[in-house]
Amino acid sequence: MLCLRLCFLSLLVSALPDLLDGARILAIFPFPGPSQYINVQPYLKGLAARGHQVTSVNAFPQKKPIENFRDIAVPEVFQSYEDIIADLDIPKNSWQENNFINDFFISVTKTVLQNAKVQQELLQPGKAQYDLIIVEALRTDALYGFAAHFNAPIIGISTFGTDWNIDELVGNTAPISYIPLVTAGLTDRMTYWERVHNFVETAIAWLNWKLVYMPLQVKLYEQYFPHVAHKKPLLELGKNFSLVLVNQHFSLSFPRPYVPNMIEVGGLHIAHKPAPLPKEVEEFIQGAGSTGVIYFSLGSNVKSKDLPEERKQMLLQAFASLPQRVLWKFEDDVLPNKPHNVFISKWFPQPDILAHPNVKLFITHGGLLSTIESIHHGKPVLGLPFFYDQFLNVERAKQSGFGLGLDHKTMTGTEFVQTIKRLIHEPRFGTTAKLMSARYRDQPMTPQETAIWWTEYVLRHKGAPHMRVAAQDLSFVAYHSLDVFGLFFGVGVLILASISYLMWKLLCSQRSSEKQKLKHQ
Ligand SMILES: *[C@@H]1O[C@H](CO)[C@@H](O)[C@H](O)[C@H]1NC(C)=O
Repeated sequence: MLCLRLCFLSLLVSALPDLLDGARILAIFPFPGPSQYINVQPYLKGLAARGHQVTSVNAFPQKKPIENFRDIAVPEVFQSYEDIIADLDIPKNSWQENNFINDFFISVTKTVLQNAKVQQELLQPGKAQYDLIIVEALRTDALYGFAAHFNAPIIGISTFGTDWNIDELVGNTAPISYIPLVTAGLTDRMTYWERVHNFVETAIAWLNWKLVYMPLQVKLYEQYFPHVAHKKPLLELGKNFSLVLVNQHFSLSFPRPYVPNMIEVGGLHIAHKPAPLPKEVEEFIQGAGSTGVIYFSLGSNVKSKDLPEERKQMLLQAFASLPQRVLWKFEDDVLPNKPHNVFISKWFPQPDILAHPNVKLFITHGGLLSTIESIHHGKPVLGLPFFYDQFLNVERAKQSGFGLGLDHKTMTGTEFVQTIKRLIHEPRFGTTAKLMSARYRDQPMTPQETAIWWTEYVLRHKGAPHMRVAAQDLSFVAYHSLDVFGLFFGVGVLILASISYLMWKLLCSQRSSEKQKLKHQ
């Protein structure tokens, strides 16, 4: 009987190891644009639902309380955003572009560290304790200091996939011959001159990072974490990540290598089952019948209502001429001249709309989350990119064959309508979108389950140092085997020099003996 009870108890313990001892997790996602936090929220809430105590530093606090989940709001970061948007259109060369981005992220980092609640509840020594730090790995390096402050393992999340500076956190291998810089607008198949371009752009970004960006972050780190900064320099913290989760997947972009503690979780935010749509939206979509519906949204940063009046009128006329119904994410209550086949709303449950079989096409700005949602639900896209990786995402949609792109500034109404008609009537776009969807969905666990499983793996194995590759302890010279090349080069030079010396000696002695002979004759 006792054995039975003990056995049962041990069974229970082995089945539910994590629920019995929830961890204290500090999540730091201060980026002031909404998409990054939309991407990670379901994962953070998933951790809370599994019994972990999650404290989240972010700019978008929850409206309703959630069990095991607490916000530390940092709304001050919106000021940094206003400042950067104001200067976005000033032309810059690559170096200035990097400095411009640095200024923005330094400002965000500083704002977080200056926040009163962050200071009281996190930075004061001995005030709180955390078992794990989860940060957005996006140019806020001084915040990695919380790993040293709480002596806890640290996990990074990159919501746009990886890049060379994220690779460095875990020593990931990324040959620049086929892995382009995210902002270069290139794919994995590069021509010779594109590879030259990628090399130069990467070198500029790397130099700027080491010479300008890091010294600024080190200064912030030493200022706000003086009690740990002398023991654990920031450069070492940045090579000591337990895990990096990347919002990317080889079926969405291109195949590439990863070290064991860098894991693809592309589409982290996608819910397993679509939720029912609001009644009005469902009726509008149903009412379209087999002609179908087009969903049009420019994402959360670009507002349709702020488009130039002439562009808005062009879009309205184009939509009015279509037999399909159109859902338009439009951020104003009224839209003058709105045709009867257009339905506007300030917000739509985008993934649930894309899941609807009557929705035939997604007209999008080409943000990564929108692109992933479109692939997940097998819908073709018409991309109208505005900035950052949007050009790259639209380029990939064209390359893969499930989408087309247009320049939103210059396209004519006729071009717009014709492109929409091609995407809806040429079957290859829909077929390719469905093929991409089938490849993407064919995974052993959902991206969210994968992310939670690896997070708890790090907790179970106390930071999982056994996954850390030796690259993290090598210098730049040793990592690239420059010292070995140097040795062979040195030996080669030595041999050549010796041979030349011997030859010279030989020649000299020959000449002198010839001279001697001449003398004797
Ligand atoms: C690296 O991380 C481990 C936990 O994963 C920690 O024990 C160690 O102190 C860290 N080292 C540095 C230099 O931060």
